[in-house]
Formats: sequence, structure tokens, C-alpha cells
Amino acid sequence: MNVVLLGPPGSGKGTQAQFIVDEFGIPQISTGDMLRSAVSSGTELGIAAKKVMDAGELVSDDVILGLVEERLQKPDCIKGALFDGFPRTLLQAEGMTEIGVVVDAVVELVVSDDVVVERISGRRVHQPSGRVYHLTFHPPRIPEKDDETGEELIQRPDDTEDTVRERLSIYYRQTAPLIDHYRKSSASYFKTDGTVSVEAIGAAIRDFLRNI
Ligand code: AP5
Repeated sequence: MNVVLLGPPGSGKGTQAQFIVDEFGIPQISTGDMLRSAVSSGTELGIAAKKVMDAGELVSDDVILGLVEERLQKPDCIKGALFDGFPRTLLQAEGMTEIGVVVDAVVELVVSDDVVVERISGRRVHQPSGRVYHLTFHPPRIPEKDDETGEELIQRPDDTEDTVRERLSIYYRQTAPLIDHYRKSSASYFKTDGTVSVEAIGAAIRDFLRNI
């Protein structure tokens, strides 16, 4: 089963991905996490991507498609994958089809810009695992520490208000056209309110995915 999570920055894609991965036994492919890992390792790709990400812009389609294609060769993708933050442009969606990925289901999370800005300012992340917290809405058990490892949480460098507003405007210009693209495709499509509780959204997504 190949599932795409669609939604603006801060809509809760990463948060929900954690539940879906546990329940359905498919790996999360987060292009954002993959890029951040390349930035931390200081690879050539990471150095080039950092500038683009910090400005809230999109990394080039070729680079992203190369990363995803390589990731899909790993044996854990045999039963499918959960795509979080990919595809983000129509060219990426077309490239995905060209490398043989058939999208079975799309989940769209809907949240307003004001909610996004509030969420992003309180977000904290455990960089090695990608686990996501919020200072108010989903706090870690010990402040600023990851629940599983006890390691320090960080604030992403692209989580400033200005950058988030830029990421939002790019989302509406370049990614939102995918909504129409997938609605017209053979994939099952589920649009859900991303502003209710994490648990309620998770339950609605589980119901949808169990029935496709
Ligand atoms: P990426 O890492 O993919 O960022 P994003 O899509 O902007 O999404 P976010 O990670 O910001 O938000 P999210 O929807 O996962 O929300 P989360 O669950 O964390 O990409 C970063 C950058 O990498 C891009 O800007 C671009 O430069 C580059 N990039 C990545 N992929 C690319 C691609 N395919 N092509 C080109 N460039 C690419 O939740 C947010 C906060 O809200 C958290 O604190 C969470 O605890 C809280 N929260 C979640 N759900 C709820 C809820 N229901 N109620 C209250 N709080 C909640």
C-alpha cells in the first residue's frame, strides 16, 4: 500500500505518520527528514539543500526524485510506503509514477494559516528519529527531552514565522495543485480536519486506510 500525506507545513503530517507506520507496517518516507539528515552529515547535497530549506523554498525535483528512488530500493519498502512531504510538485508526482510507484491512497490534512503559525512556533523535534512534539499541544514527558531516548529536542531553523509564511505561499502555489491531480486519479482520497485532536485525526485516518 502506497499512501501520500498531503497538507501545508505544520498540518500534522509527521505526527500522523508515526501512528500510520506503527499500525500498517510500512516505512515513512519523509523527504524533509532525509534532507535534514544530509544537512547534519554535511554531505554535498546537504550543504546545497540547507540554504534552500532555511529560506523555505523547495529543493529541486531532480534531487528529490533521486533521493526517493534510492530509498525505495531498500527491502522495507517491499509492501509499500507512507510518503510524508512528497510529492510536492506535479513534476514530482509524475516522476513518482515513472519510477513505478502506484499511489493507492491520499490523505489531505486541512488547517488554516494561523493554526500553522501557532503550531510551528511551539514545535520541537528529535532530530535522529524525526519524532515531533509541541510545547503546549503535545509536550514531551520531560521538557526539551525525547520520550524514547531522553536526548535533547531541537527547534528547526526553518521554523521562524517569516519562513513559515514563505513555506505556506509555496505550498499554495506548487503543492496544492496536487489535490486536484489526486482527486482525478484512481487513488482513494480522504480529506480531514487537521485541527481536532491528534488522536481523533489518527482514528479517522486509520478507519479510512483499513477500508480502502
Ligand atoms: P518538511 O520537513 O517536509 O516540512 P513541511 O512539509 O513544511 O511540514 P512540517 O514538517 O513543517 O509539518 P508537518 O505537517 O509534518 O507537521 P508536524 O506533524 O510536524 O520539509 C522541510 C523543507 O524541506 C521544505 O521547506 C523544503 O525546503 C524541503 N523539502 C522537503 N520535501 C521536499 C520535496 N518533496 N520537494 C522539495 N523540497 C522538499 O506538526 C507540526 C506541529 O503541530 C508539531 O509541533 C505537532 O506536535 C503539532 N501538532 C500536530 N498535530 C496537531 C494537532 N492535531 N493538534 C495540535 N497540535 C498538533
